[in-house]
Amino acid sequence: MAENKDKNASNEQDVKRETLTTRQGRPVADNQNIRTIGDRGPATLENYHFIEKISHFDREEVPERVVHARGSGAFGYFETYGKVGDEPVEKYTRAKVFSGAGKKTPLMVRFSTVAGSKDSPETDRDPRGFAIKMYTEDGNWDLVGNNLKIFFIRDAMKFPDMIHAFKADPVSNVPNPQRMFDFVSRSPEATHMITFLFSPWGIPATYRHMQGSGVNTYKWVNDKGEAVLVKYHWEPKSGIRNLTQEEASSIQAKNVSHATQDLYEAIEREDYPEWELFVQIMEDDYHPELDFDPLDDTKLWPEDKFPWLPVGRMVLDRNPVDFHAEIEQAAFGTGVLVDGMDFSDDKMLQGRTFSYSDTQRYRVGANYLKLPVNAPKPTVRSNQHRGQMDIPDPRESTDNPHINYEPSMIGGYQEVSEEEPAQHRPTYNAAAMSAPIDRPNNYGQAGDTYRSFEDWERDELIENLSGALAICDKRIQDAMIGHFSQADEDYGRLVKEGIEQKMKQLQEDKTENKVPGRDAGISKYGEGS
Ligand code: HEM
Repeated sequence: MAENKDKNASNEQDVKRETLTTRQGRPVADNQNIRTIGDRGPATLENYHFIEKISHFDREEVPERVVHARGSGAFGYFETYGKVGDEPVEKYTRAKVFSGAGKKTPLMVRFSTVAGSKDSPETDRDPRGFAIKMYTEDGNWDLVGNNLKIFFIRDAMKFPDMIHAFKADPVSNVPNPQRMFDFVSRSPEATHMITFLFSPWGIPATYRHMQGSGVNTYKWVNDKGEAVLVKYHWEPKSGIRNLTQEEASSIQAKNVSHATQDLYEAIEREDYPEWELFVQIMEDDYHPELDFDPLDDTKLWPEDKFPWLPVGRMVLDRNPVDFHAEIEQAAFGTGVLVDGMDFSDDKMLQGRTFSYSDTQRYRVGANYLKLPVNAPKPTVRSNQHRGQMDIPDPRESTDNPHINYEPSMIGGYQEVSEEEPAQHRPTYNAAAMSAPIDRPNNYGQAGDTYRSFEDWERDELIENLSGALAICDKRIQDAMIGHFSQADEDYGRLVKEGIEQKMKQLQEDKTENKVPGRDAGISKYGEGS
């Protein structure tokens, strides 16, 4: 017996411990020493256990998500109120997940940041992803949103460029806010989101203390096939808490995983996080009375016209038992809807809907939907099988397992035979084109949001924007000041003055031979972040 093994044995306590096995199920006799010629080597090639162990280790990572790589998640349930506000929910949707007050549907949630890689600090100034997968009786429903209720851009065509600009320089791999502001200065629709992002709302204190929102507009469809537009919002029962840049920097100096740790520890001590789900409902129409397009995801729907109506609550009460299997391999998508829900014409939503499952076939594999975390609760009876890492379909549940096609007269699965619920059939009469929407109104709500902030939030916003813009090219600074001024004159003026002050400080640092930017604590999106 090898020396190290004896040491391990001497540490053993009274706990009954299971025997370590290989992945072929054979008990492992020696897990410390490879097989060699003599005790000093060389090693032999038929070291099966060692080669299996090392080669599996070599393949332990899957590609990280191209965005939202840094995240954490948990499991729990959704409980429906059976009503939307005071009305029966069936008036608007036949989705069973919302019917029958008190009914619980199991779910999982993954929270994330956007631009950073898998182990980046959770104190980053960044929108937070808020993705939910509900395992409903009618199959999975995913709601993939964020904490800020709106987004930077309104057309899916721009997303890859936006993300390139937000990530590090492709040559030096150094993050630099100039890249982001260069893109944003040419994308005035981002002014509203930037206003949220550089305020304390851009750094939620923890995942438990932030809102969630579907952001894009969906449809609810009732039994008659009638549809309304719907937006979803999650409100944390523990209240909303955001961080100043200084608070975030001091947390980051000690802990880059504070939000993951906070969520995990809260659930371990049975302090289960809870959110209430609200919807806003709107007739599916052009709405000429609004000064913006209701399908534009850079806009909030005004609450006085479209009130937040409670529909249920979500509780998270179980941590993952295996982070990689259950959280890293979780795959959410905006296309994952159930009967009673539909897509709106929101162009971002439609672009997103292709992207998610496409990336997941690459990131996790063609059979990603067969993994326990992604598989729906109802038995899947599909003829889409084979491919890498397939597991058997329950083909015994069909009368003739030889028939893996449809239609057939001799067996196999068949499409729904009973009468279909009334379909929602929107009609269109317009020319195909590539064109912007006709009510961009890029600045109105950005100004409203700026004016709605408390004084300390506005001060933070100006400070953070000035710090980040101070190291940008003058053309970019001027364009950004122009956008902020159009949102609110004071906003533009204060950012302009802030930039001037910060640039002066940078100049002084330079003459004192400090490294500009770094000594001012400026990184990806601004100071200290
Ligand atoms: C993740 C694409 C816009 C929220 C992702 C992923 C892709 C993607 C490829 C990685 C998915 C994976 O590897 O599993 C896009 C595209 C967009 C877009 C093409 C625009 C056209 C948005 C918007 C939001 C959002 C507007 C918020 C409302 C999320 C979230 C995740 C994510 C929360 C992480 C999901 C998870 O936790 O696994 N997105 N996205 N995305 N996206 Fe988007």
